[in-house]
Amino acid sequence: MVSRQAASPGLEGVVLTSTRLSRIDGDAGQLQYVGYDIHELARQASFEEICLLLWHGELPSASELADFREQLAKQRQLSAEELALVDSIPLSGHGMDALRTLTSGLALLDPHADELSLDAAERVGTRLLAKLPVLIAAWDRRRRGQPMVPADPELGQAANMLGMIHGQQPTPAAAQALTAYLVLLAEHGLNASTFAARVAISAQADVYAALTAATAVLKGVLHGGANQKAMEAFLAIGTPAQAGPYIEALLQRRGRLMGVGHRIYKVEDPRVQQLREHVEALAHEQTQSSHTVADAVAQVVAQHPYFVERQLNPNVEFYSAPLLYQLGLPLDLFTVAFALSRIAGWVGHIREQISENRIIRPKATYSGPADRAVIPIEQRAEVSPASRY
Ligand code: ACO
Repeated sequence: MVSRQAASPGLEGVVLTSTRLSRIDGDAGQLQYVGYDIHELARQASFEEICLLLWHGELPSASELADFREQLAKQRQLSAEELALVDSIPLSGHGMDALRTLTSGLALLDPHADELSLDAAERVGTRLLAKLPVLIAAWDRRRRGQPMVPADPELGQAANMLGMIHGQQPTPAAAQALTAYLVLLAEHGLNASTFAARVAISAQADVYAALTAATAVLKGVLHGGANQKAMEAFLAIGTPAQAGPYIEALLQRRGRLMGVGHRIYKVEDPRVQQLREHVEALAHEQTQSSHTVADAVAQVVAQHPYFVERQLNPNVEFYSAPLLYQLGLPLDLFTVAFALSRIAGWVGHIREQISENRIIRPKATYSGPADRAVIPIEQRAEVSPASRY
């Protein structure tokens, strides 16, 4: 007798495990990493500090941070084989497909790729955080017909990412904005991509496999891919006055407004405010600005009964979009930037999963037909398309 239990579509409300990494209060709109409020961290900590916080559970001392920065700087110097990865992948296609492929490619060049331990997770995390920005920037510049720009050993993660894409050092405001972005996006509980990483590690796939799986899932437009889609919507809207009509038309055709809504947050996402502040700061030093359209959309969302009744508010992707746009990133590198931050959180979760592993294996209730006899093929009728799954 097969037991029938109620399913939980989207696993909403299901608790899989506990984590020490982030504490999320969706009703109060609060987020902490390992006990530190996200606002304080975004104002005071570098992305490199956040990596060590998420991997070791404590903010690093000055010398621990210096060691980590040095490791990253060393690993940003690529071997000829690592650099050749960029030549071996097509220049067509989406940045996330390039990132996913490069992540797998780096596994092929790591003789210890199969190692599964807490140290291995940290070693691979450091390796990918150092090398992927160099590779993806080289790939992006190559498709624009420009030579790669090597990493600058004097610069940190955010400034290097921008410098290697644009071929010139970023302004202080730009480096600060990307640093805050990387800090704010680094970790967020058991979201879809983190879950994928945990599932892969729970089956004892290696760390590269888990990070490749997480990157693949992050591309989804209901998850990390929403930042690009939100920006495309803001560009299509064009002017603040068009925000209202655009949203009405979208709702008419039952579309989704990208960058809005969240499974956990029923009030404003706590990351929104700081992202908005950095967008504003960048706008001051640039003539080109896209945040006024985003502001107009946010105003409609705050007042429109459709969004109010469903408790749908701008999420982290909403102001990430104009922030990354004003930093000059190509649209298909928006989700890549997200991944290059979230690797920190993924590695934290991989380490937690390794230390208390049991294979993740939920179940589905069976809803198909029962006890059928196989009809010999010559006696079978054509299956009409309507009766196929
Ligand atoms: N635009 C319009 N309607 C929406 C939106 C939206 N962005 N989000 C949810 N809704 C509606 C749904 O249609 C549904 O309406 P109904 O009750 O009339 O059927 C209701 O709100 C509840 O939506 P669900 O899909 O059940 O909510 P869920 O928790 O499953 O989905 C999600 C959350 C995927 C984030 C959703 O809000 C969404 O699609 N947002 C747009 C994509 C996006 O911005 N994703 C990034 C999220 S943040 C991150 O992953 C980093």
